[in-house]
Amino acid sequence: MKIERLKLTNFRNYQNLEIEFKKNINLIIGDNGQGKTNILESIYILSLTKSNRSGIEENLIKFDEEIAKIEGMVKSDEILKKQEICLTKTKKQLFINNKEIRRSREYISNFCVISFTPQDLEIVKGSPQDRRNMLNIDISQLKNNYITYLNEYNQVIKMRNEYLKRMNINGNSDPRYLEVINANMIEKAIKIYEYRYAFFEKINEILPNIYKKITGLSNLSLIYNNSIHVDTFDNEEIKKKFVSKLKKNLNIELIQGMTLIGPHRDDFSFSLNGIDMKTFASQGQQRMAVIALKIAEIYLFNKEKGEYPVLLLDDIFSEIDIKKRNKIIKFLKDDIQSIITTTDINDIDDELLDNSQIYVVKNNRVTKKGRINNGRRKGDK
Ligand SMILES: Nc1ncnc2c1ncn2[C@@H]1O[C@H](COP(=O)(O)OP(=O)(O)O)[C@@H](O)[C@H]1O
Ligand SMILES: [Mg+2]
Repeated sequence: MKIERLKLTNFRNYQNLEIEFKKNINLIIGDNGQGKTNILESIYILSLTKSNRSGIEENLIKFDEEIAKIEGMVKSDEILKKQEICLTKTKKQLFINNKEIRRSREYISNFCVISFTPQDLEIVKGSPQDRRNMLNIDISQLKNNYITYLNEYNQVIKMRNEYLKRMNINGNSDPRYLEVINANMIEKAIKIYEYRYAFFEKINEILPNIYKKITGLSNLSLIYNNSIHVDTFDNEEIKKKFVSKLKKNLNIELIQGMTLIGPHRDDFSFSLNGIDMKTFASQGQQRMAVIALKIAEIYLFNKEKGEYPVLLLDDIFSEIDIKKRNKIIKFLKDDIQSIITTTDINDIDDELLDNSQIYVVKNNRVTKKGRINNGRRKGDK
């Protein structure tokens, strides 16, 4: 997949911006606060309809403006399409080839991105929710039904939690009704589990090898810690355990007014030689594990979809030593389009620089630079 052109109108600090991207490596250079991340963010939203940055969605619109627009000419399966997202303070519209798309699942997965940000690098020690979000986003790009299942499941959970609260207050509830909700919840949960188990299984076929190539160490894998404690995907086994756990938890769920098990409580951990990296790994080691995971996802994506997603790398090279950086760059094959930001051109290795299209961001404008040595003096490293 590729993004050939991006046009921003009143998005963040850009009133009007048009960029053409090269089909392999694109390097965006600029000082802090100039709007590098904003460009990557817009591409991320163009793909996934939501930002990967926290904060109020309204702030995506340029201050004092009413409507923001992100337009991109994107290519997938050799077909060029125009994708467009239009944001006002109260609504968001999605378009493909000028036709409005009302369901996000029909929009997402046409054009996919894998993004690396400094925050992603902290995911090993981050909250379960952060890891779950990452998992959900990545699977939803691989399988477009996933979002539908997730939404349906979340609706049941919401309903169930409301009912639990009501039961607790009124006391005169109908247990048969709760059983109906439970059956519905389990049915929806199983669909999500099916995708998640498959994801972990496939990732674990690729991940150890990639981690080894970067760090020299083997045996990195992801451990899926699901809240019903079933090791492999087995429909009947999951149902059985789910039902018995729900029974066991009922009293405490009533008190808390929420559902304590299910896909919305799942987690996963990074395991190196069988030990959870959260407990012992240095920050550097944890970051390498996340990078290896993201690279593994890119390869998995290619395996499943027959093409690579677009890679968005936000200012991560400054945090990685030069030897590892070189190893990571080796994974950036010619047929992967990447868009990389950095504040310091000296963080970028010669080989990467030689092969990149360079853009400089300054004063809300982006200018294309010619070949290297524009930004770096001879002999600089
Ligand atoms: N809604 C907005 N309207 C105008 N400017 C914005 C808006 N949101 C963020 N900005 C500006 O964007 C800049 C930060 O851009 P960012 O892409 O994070 O920079 P960096 O180059 O450091 O990655 C800041 O100067 C901020 O004021
Ligand atoms: Mg930034």
